[in-house]
Amino acid sequence: MEGVPRVPPEAAERRRCRIGAAMAVLLVVLPLMLMRVFLGDQADSIDALLRQAHVKQQSPRNASDPEAAPVRTEHEHDRLLGGLLSPDFHDEQACRSRYEASTLWKTSPFSVAPYLVRRLRQYEANHSRCGPRTARYREAAAQLQSGRNAGGADCRYVVWLPMQGLGNRMLSLASTFLYALLTGRVVLVHQPPEMEGLFCEPFPGTSWLLPPDFPYKDGFWSGSKESYVNMLENNVVRYDMVNNASALPAYVYLHLENTRFRFQNHTFCEEDHLLLDKFKWMVLSSDSYFAVALFLMPAYREELDRMFPAKGAVFHQLGRYLFHPGNRAWGMAQRFFAGYLAGANERLGVQVRVGPYQLAFPFEVMSEQILRCTREHGLLPQLTHNTERAAGSVRLANSIAVKAVLVVSLKPEYYDKLHGMYYSNAAASSTGQEVVVSVYQPSHDEDQRTDSRAHNERALAEIYLLSFCDEVVTTGWSTFGYVAHSLAGLRPWVLTPLDWTKMKAENACVRPESVEPCMHSLPSFDCWRSGQDLDPVVHLPFLRHCEDVPAGLQLF
Ligand SMILES: *[C@@H]1O[C@H](CO)[C@@H](O)[C@H](O)[C@H]1NC(C)=O
Ligand SMILES: *[C@@H]1O[C@H](CO)[C@@H](O)[C@H](O)[C@H]1NC(C)=O
Ligand SMILES: *[C@@H]1O[C@H](CO)[C@@H](O)[C@H](O)[C@H]1NC(C)=O
Ligand SMILES: *[C@@H]1O[C@H](CO)[C@@H](O)[C@H](O)[C@H]1NC(C)=O
Repeated sequence: MEGVPRVPPEAAERRRCRIGAAMAVLLVVLPLMLMRVFLGDQADSIDALLRQAHVKQQSPRNASDPEAAPVRTEHEHDRLLGGLLSPDFHDEQACRSRYEASTLWKTSPFSVAPYLVRRLRQYEANHSRCGPRTARYREAAAQLQSGRNAGGADCRYVVWLPMQGLGNRMLSLASTFLYALLTGRVVLVHQPPEMEGLFCEPFPGTSWLLPPDFPYKDGFWSGSKESYVNMLENNVVRYDMVNNASALPAYVYLHLENTRFRFQNHTFCEEDHLLLDKFKWMVLSSDSYFAVALFLMPAYREELDRMFPAKGAVFHQLGRYLFHPGNRAWGMAQRFFAGYLAGANERLGVQVRVGPYQLAFPFEVMSEQILRCTREHGLLPQLTHNTERAAGSVRLANSIAVKAVLVVSLKPEYYDKLHGMYYSNAAASSTGQEVVVSVYQPSHDEDQRTDSRAHNERALAEIYLLSFCDEVVTTGWSTFGYVAHSLAGLRPWVLTPLDWTKMKAENACVRPESVEPCMHSLPSFDCWRSGQDLDPVVHLPFLRHCEDVPAGLQLF
């Protein structure tokens, strides 16, 4: 952790906000809010007006405030996230998160390799050349209809199909993009209704959305006859076809699902990938962060080394590059941040996923573990049990530190517990300084509803809100938590799975070495040299097992 908590510009602004200014803002803002109600679709431009009004009121800057200026210039400098983002987007209003997120994230601890930047720009050029609405795409689509593969084709595609919830989708889509980078394919995303507008277009001047008339986007599973593994088994494809690509079917389906901690055989072997490369069209679905498995394949190793000299930043960088919440989800994140989190000196995110794995654990056990974690690692100030304040110390602005706690959970009770504790009791930091702890929870949907667009928008907003925190406590196994801390570039405090017999975890939480997501399923090792140790961690210095999923693999 940095010694001095960095205060984002909004925070500095809020602190300078005096009642007079607040009234003035209200007078400007109120009519705009009313306009917003009546104008509906115009909401985005009204939002821009709102922001302008806000900025105007704050703009006579107090030059003697030491916190304000340097932060802002540092962020100006890093608007394109160290070169990750393309400079070729020009309509900021169409996707506000693209540039605003960088002002709310802490500065990335990882530098971006110039080689990765070159590859991304090259990918973008390929995508514009081959993407939807180009002559090359029409030609490729016609080829697909003809039922035959096109050998030696210039543009090759990988069509991503969603599987599971939002966290899994983001992990598998980032992995698919990395696979496309490595194999020279262009990614097209099948966007079901519940994902509409969830993310902005990541590549300038083109679209990553699969055209709606694409015929093969539903009904695939591990047993599909177009699945690579099944075609291999049924002799529909053979390894000798590597030299005769026109003998291959028009497309291949690659199924990369975690089934009892394994991917299917023949999905990460070199000879299989030589053959897979010959297909012009690949349809892929996965619930996993299979990017890690690509690092196990010697053929991709050199390229990966050049793109990611720091192996522990793969999702952190690809995620920040690819995912930009659409304006609806971003509006939620941005309003919540400005309203509740910006004014705090420090922000702690607590993500509690009570999924199938913890289903049986009572609330008291989980909440005790969370409190033990925050206590043992000094993440939250201790209660002083002093409910009466000494005379004369009534809060004056700036005299007391504020720690904001963002609770993200489908359930309300963890919020209630923390909120109640810090509402009824005073708290102090380890040095005895009084700290006000303010606890917030943006939503509690009770159940995960992957097929609801509104639910996914709230979930995405909350992933980003967590990623704006200074520290995060997450629940083991949760892909939602992985995405949040990895985007942030933070090593989380991971709540360890509870021991069923003791109803208690030995350590309340642990801190992994890496900000990377964990890949829960291992590739099958059917193609490894016989006699070789099957644990890849033994061979590869940048791989480790995960704290929360001991069999899983993580880059670091
Ligand atoms: C600027 O801030 C300083 C210290 O916080 C304060 O003393 C001064 O009155 C402020 N000036 C204005 C114009 O608000
Ligand atoms: C771009 O396309 C060319 C030609 O198809 C290919 O060789 C190259 O690998 C692609 N680059 C990326 C980054 O996809
Ligand atoms: C390539 O495959 C096609 C279609 O199956 C076949 O007609 C042709 O003879 C094959 N060519 C070679 C060199 O094997
Ligand atoms: C995968 O490969 C291993 C090793 O060759 C074999 O033991 C196992 O039966 C295979 N699994 C399937 C489902 O084919």
